[in-house]
Amino acid sequence: MTDRYCVFGHPIGHSRSPAIHAAFAEQTGEAIEYTAIEAPLDDFVGAWRAFVAAGGRGANVTVPFKEEACRLCDDLSPRARRAGAVNTLILEADGRTRGDTTDGAGLVSDLARQGVTLAGARVLVLGAGGAVRGVLEPLLAEGPATLHVANRTAEKARALAADFKDLGPVSGGGFDGVAGPYDLVINGTSASLGGELPPLPEALFAPGATAYDMMYGAEPTVFLRWAGERGARTIDGLGMLVGQAAESFFLWRGRRPDVVPVLEALRKAL
Ligand code: ATR
Repeated sequence: MTDRYCVFGHPIGHSRSPAIHAAFAEQTGEAIEYTAIEAPLDDFVGAWRAFVAAGGRGANVTVPFKEEACRLCDDLSPRARRAGAVNTLILEADGRTRGDTTDGAGLVSDLARQGVTLAGARVLVLGAGGAVRGVLEPLLAEGPATLHVANRTAEKARALAADFKDLGPVSGGGFDGVAGPYDLVINGTSASLGGELPPLPEALFAPGATAYDMMYGAEPTVFLRWAGERGARTIDGLGMLVGQAAESFFLWRGRRPDVVPVLEALRKAL
């Protein structure tokens, strides 16, 4: 029987994960089936158990189930435990469920592919929700000179920084405390969804700085437009999406697909 994988979310209709994993399967010759499943909001655990009973070997997990998926796992990777969220479920041979989170690895690999250096960089991260919590450990592992987390609700950013301060030079606060210049500014807020921009100072970017938005779309986000007008190089989150998928594929199949052709095809289809 073909090994089955899926992505769980709610809603899930617009997920690009099935197309990405189909492309990885074709590229690597791995015989897998990958579908999108809308799990009921009140029974994520039941949806995972039913999927396993039907031959499921692993799954990606997206909004709003990442924290619940974390709680159901028998084993967690250290990075998933610290994130308090998983985006990848792996069914072990003994029937246990292992959880990991590959979002941060996807982001870091995309930055590396784009030639953005994290080591020694002054980094600003906007937002302090689940999306940011999920990427801080891999970002800090790259050795930035400083990493400041700024959030509309300042207390959330301070608490988040406190949770990660043993891993590197991380601080947190409100937008009013943001003072550039930064070499890399990563937008992890969902403000772009409403076409909004966090209040940011004009002199945010150092010469040669990069602005990265974890969101992506056919058009640049309002944050990337603003950053581009101020001279920053701009990158959207499509590469992070494909990168996290490649890391999940590796966890399941032990093979790391080449993200570049898949990313190019996806970009054309946006
Ligand atoms: P996610 O899983 O996408 O991180 P989340 O946990 O709800 O979702 O977090 C959303 C993030 O976007 C938060 O940092 C939120 O700021 P608050 O903590 O102050 O709520 C931020 N955010 C959402 N809308 C925003 C806006 N219009 N301006 C600035 N920040 C916004």
